[in-house]
Amino acid sequence: MRTLRKTLHIKTYGCQMNVYDSARMAELLAPVGYELAPSAEQADLVILNTCHIREKAAEKVYSELGRLRRAKEAAAADGRRMMIAVAGCVAQAEGAEIQNRAPVVDIVVGPQAYHRLPELIARAARAEGRQLDTAFPAESKFDLLPQQRQNEGPAAFLTVQEGCDKFCTFCVVPYTRGAEASRPAADILAEAERLIAAGAVEITLLGQNVNAYRGRAPVAAPDAGSWGLGRLLRALAELPGLERLRYTTSHPRDVDDELIEAHRDLAPLMPFLHLPVQSGSDVVLEAMNRRHSADDYRRTVDRLRGVRPDLALSSDFIVGFPGERDEDFARTLALVSEVGYAQAYSFKYSARPGTPAAALPRQVPEPVKAERLAVLQQLLDAQQLAFNRQNLGRRLAVLFERQGRLPGQLVGRSPWMQAVHARLPQESLGRIVEVAIVGAGPNSLQGEAEAAGARAVA
Ligand code: SAH
Ligand code: SF4
Ligand code: F3S
Repeated sequence: MRTLRKTLHIKTYGCQMNVYDSARMAELLAPVGYELAPSAEQADLVILNTCHIREKAAEKVYSELGRLRRAKEAAAADGRRMMIAVAGCVAQAEGAEIQNRAPVVDIVVGPQAYHRLPELIARAARAEGRQLDTAFPAESKFDLLPQQRQNEGPAAFLTVQEGCDKFCTFCVVPYTRGAEASRPAADILAEAERLIAAGAVEITLLGQNVNAYRGRAPVAAPDAGSWGLGRLLRALAELPGLERLRYTTSHPRDVDDELIEAHRDLAPLMPFLHLPVQSGSDVVLEAMNRRHSADDYRRTVDRLRGVRPDLALSSDFIVGFPGERDEDFARTLALVSEVGYAQAYSFKYSARPGTPAAALPRQVPEPVKAERLAVLQQLLDAQQLAFNRQNLGRRLAVLFERQGRLPGQLVGRSPWMQAVHARLPQESLGRIVEVAIVGAGPNSLQGEAEAAGARAVA
């Protein structure tokens, strides 16, 4: 059968899981003739891979659909058919509502149904009406998607786990991504080998709850049964050519002894951990159903730093959760001051339809949320700048991932996820190079190749 050449544009919102899924969708559609197009206007198929986590994220989709409606009309005036698909967490959460609110949409497809995209496209093209698939199939989506990973650059993502059973009372993820499911370890090792063969030097394992990973052990493993994340990291760390390993996002409750030992023993496991705490107040943590106290979190951080003293931390915070009092917020500030973060994300609580917290009494007024967010961000920004400045005069091993904006400049990441800019020869792209840190700002570092020439360390 001859395949028609068509163009595809994917716009991705939200978390790294969506970035990974977008790449998988592009791979799935390549064999049926879709090539990636840089802009939506020229594409035959536009996929919006959406995020539902906060109201603002979800609303972005509808404003983008407004723009696409005009592009679709312009294409039609040229005699071209543009098809529009909404994928991701808004598709899962608001499937039918999207079709009502935005008739321009041809296809709505949830995160567990991407393998059905070619069929949904074919049916929409045959004018069988608008297509909706937000089912959670019994079979894992990973067994249904193709695995021919293309070269995605030196730093690649690899999904090992999807879904969440934690049901924090503010969060939509358990509803949009479904129950926790882990991929078999053998599949992950095989995918990692393919990524390394395609040029990956660093792999970041992804999961909504990545450290709740519990996947089938490879058949040959003496400790057959199932593996946790610590064991999986140990196996990945042995793959030749893999210099750096990271994983995200973790839940404080699932940091077990095996994972702490992995941080103690594995050189490729980078000394940077995103470990969201959300709040420093036990009253708020309880109402959030986080199932850990602020002291549990402190103890976990102490244990991790005990085995890896240079470990830097990142976190997520929510301010203005229903019922949060000034004294609760003060406890968050105290926790931040004690722990010291290299970087963090903070958000105003956003009530999400269908989540338990949206129905709680004592919702916090907007101006109070805004003020608390500003205070928290000021503290976090100061910590981030101080963390970056500590590196002045030191030499850091940086994995250079892409071109910078200035001629001859490359941009990469330090072991602690800091962006580092440096003028270096092109051969340094895709390699880990040691540079001297000569500048440190709030969001990035400036590096310089040493006089004798930058030393490639990998
Ligand atoms: N799986 C990850 C996070 C998913 S969402 C985890 O468990 O940490 C990323 C962050 O968005 C969360 O950590 C939380 O800080 C924030 N978030 C989630 N729901 C939110 C809401 N309703 N309002 C504001 N922030 C929210
Ligand atoms: Fe959401 Fe909580 Fe699950 Fe994270 S652990 S995805 S915040 S429900
Ligand atoms: Fe958003 Fe879904 Fe990720 S809600 S944060 S895209 S899991």
